[in-house]
Amino acid sequence: MLSMITKSPEETARIGLMLGSFLRAGDIVCLQGELGAGKTCFAKGVARGMGIEGPVTSPTFTLVNEYHGELTLYHLDVYRLNGSDDMDDLGYEEFFYGDGVTLVEWAERVREVLPEERLDIFIDRGTEGDECREIRIIPCGDRYRLLVEELMAVVCSRN
Ligand SMILES: Nc1ncnc2c1ncn2[C@@H]1O[C@H](COP(=O)(O)OP(=O)(O)O)[C@@H](O)[C@H]1O
Ligand SMILES: [Mg+2]
Repeated sequence: MLSMITKSPEETARIGLMLGSFLRAGDIVCLQGELGAGKTCFAKGVARGMGIEGPVTSPTFTLVNEYHGELTLYHLDVYRLNGSDDMDDLGYEEFFYGDGVTLVEWAERVREVLPEERLDIFIDRGTEGDECREIRIIPCGDRYRLLVEELMAVVCSRN
């Protein structure tokens, strides 16, 4: 597990950016954390790290936003879904088992359909002030353990 504290939205986005630069086709990133935790902020960084330019907005109402860079990014917000039946309607298999990268906000709401191998990220408000967040990154499966090792190397060497 990789655990860190950020002290600003920019810092959270920068962790996302570093992660984004290591993502590959088929990767799945599951973000969990309450409203306003910083999931979308993190996701914006991920998109930048994947080389996606232009505005990245919250898919709260659209459910899924699709961005085309070198890789495709499917950015889902499943807050409004009622479990896995709604995920079926959304056609989630195209995202999870396709050639793009999938990033899911509120992943805990659709736990039943999440692939076992994935990267789980928990974002929580810290105790040191309004702009403080604890980010915990937990790999499930070999691919994601490698990813976390790569990420850890750059996070630990950042100034
Ligand atoms: N360290 C931090 N990391 C991320 N967001 C932060 C941080 N400190 C304050 N914020 C603020 O918290 C809010 C997070 O919003 P957002 O990313 O949309 O959350 P979510 O998608 O989890 O609902 C933003 O208004 C952002 O400016
Ligand atoms: Mg959000």
